[in-house]
Amino acid sequence: MSYFIGADLGTSALKLLLTDERGRILKKVGRAYPISFPAPGWSEQSPDDWWDAFVSGTAELISGIDPKKVAAIGVGGQMHGLVILDGDGKVIRPAIIWNDGRTGAETDYLNNVIGRQTLSEETGNVAFAGFTAPKLLWLRKNEPDSFARISKIMLPKDYINYRLTGRYCTDYSDASGTLLLDVRHRCWSERMLEICGLRQDMMPDLLESYDVAGSLLTSVADILGLPHDTIVVAGAGDNAAAAIGTGTVGNGRCNISLGTSGTVFISSDAFSVDRFNSLHSFCHADGGYHLMGCILSAASCNKWFCEDILRTDDYTSEQAVITDDMLGNNHVFFLPYLMGERSPHSDTDARGTFIGLRMDSTRSDMLLAVLEGVAFAIGDCVEVARAQNINIQSSSICGGGARSELWLKIICNLLGTKISTVATDQGSGYGAAILAAVGAGAFRSVDEAVSVLIKKEREFVPDPEISARYREKYNKFREIYPSVKNLFKIIK
Ligand code: XUL
Repeated sequence: MSYFIGADLGTSALKLLLTDERGRILKKVGRAYPISFPAPGWSEQSPDDWWDAFVSGTAELISGIDPKKVAAIGVGGQMHGLVILDGDGKVIRPAIIWNDGRTGAETDYLNNVIGRQTLSEETGNVAFAGFTAPKLLWLRKNEPDSFARISKIMLPKDYINYRLTGRYCTDYSDASGTLLLDVRHRCWSERMLEICGLRQDMMPDLLESYDVAGSLLTSVADILGLPHDTIVVAGAGDNAAAAIGTGTVGNGRCNISLGTSGTVFISSDAFSVDRFNSLHSFCHADGGYHLMGCILSAASCNKWFCEDILRTDDYTSEQAVITDDMLGNNHVFFLPYLMGERSPHSDTDARGTFIGLRMDSTRSDMLLAVLEGVAFAIGDCVEVARAQNINIQSSSICGGGARSELWLKIICNLLGTKISTVATDQGSGYGAAILAAVGAGAFRSVDEAVSVLIKKEREFVPDPEISARYREKYNKFREIYPSVKNLFKIIK
């Protein structure tokens, strides 16, 4: 029986898991790493911290098992982060990661001077702050010395694969978020490279997520204690990997992820773009495509409110006092834009906001408002999809936030759709392990692997009364952002 390592290179931590051919999770290990905010709205991480976490986490993961059984490694990673290497393969500066909002001016330049239509024709997408292309424009202008030293550009999980195999490559799902990929034709866009001052030879090779990128470098295999012929697949952007891990493949399935970010992910066999490019149009890790809306702060809002404001990490007790009769009856509202917002507002200046506080507002009202605010923002993404006639009748849900039954109930009732969790919910790590298993030949395709391995766990069905209350609340929530939008520019 072969084993597979699946990694989820997240924003706050690396999560590793070991599976066998039957998809059973044998062991899980986590390693946290820091994130730095060098200026308000900026966020950076050190690629070497990711690598150190991978090395020490793998040692713990395989201790006590027969390492010869490990056949393949797959990594799913936070998307869009800019990792730049010099001619010696060394990291030039810290990675500017997905939720960094410094590129407002570059995003405006791309959308308004290059033009949304050109961007959409070239890449299937328009620019959002956080995508990789605006980061490259920022770097060229603000750190020309670093820019001049670039020999290779890659995304966060590609850096792990590069350290493992020595190969410069990426996969189509993650490459989609650079705004440098012609998503429809699955190749780098010459025009976009030219706009960003890049050459083809700076770009990593493009592979399908389940393709083999290479096998371990001998020196690395020895450090990790793994067989020299362990293969590494190209892996995927974390949302595509998480979608694989919940069985969201093929046409018309939906997955919601409640991690640091929140996403609504709709899989499809064919490439498509919505009329206003309001959803991201990206390649999927199953060889197909997907549409996606992304909110920048989801489970991170709950973490911030509980840990930094209420000073507790007992999430369960905080939520236990919130009863069904409170759902849809809260007078407090919260805009969850702690890092600005991507979908649908595309506003780097937006900020978190409580509104409606009264003398009798309680700690629980405020916590509920935080959970509801994130649910409403997810609802905003679902509404964009529905406006494009995409009929979402049910969805799977995954990520750290999906461990809260209360939050699932709120989302299910707000959306008015069935929501289900899967038995093996491990975010993108489980999907990455599936990609590794497919790459190693344990399954003929991602589709086959998913149909054998993924099982529904709990299903939440909307309650008509709570749902009606939430529709009403949601209509009020939608009024708040347009009313305060200009204030965010004044107070910044
Ligand atoms: C997706 C996105 C986030 C990150 C989080 O477009 O920016 O979901 O991938 O890790």
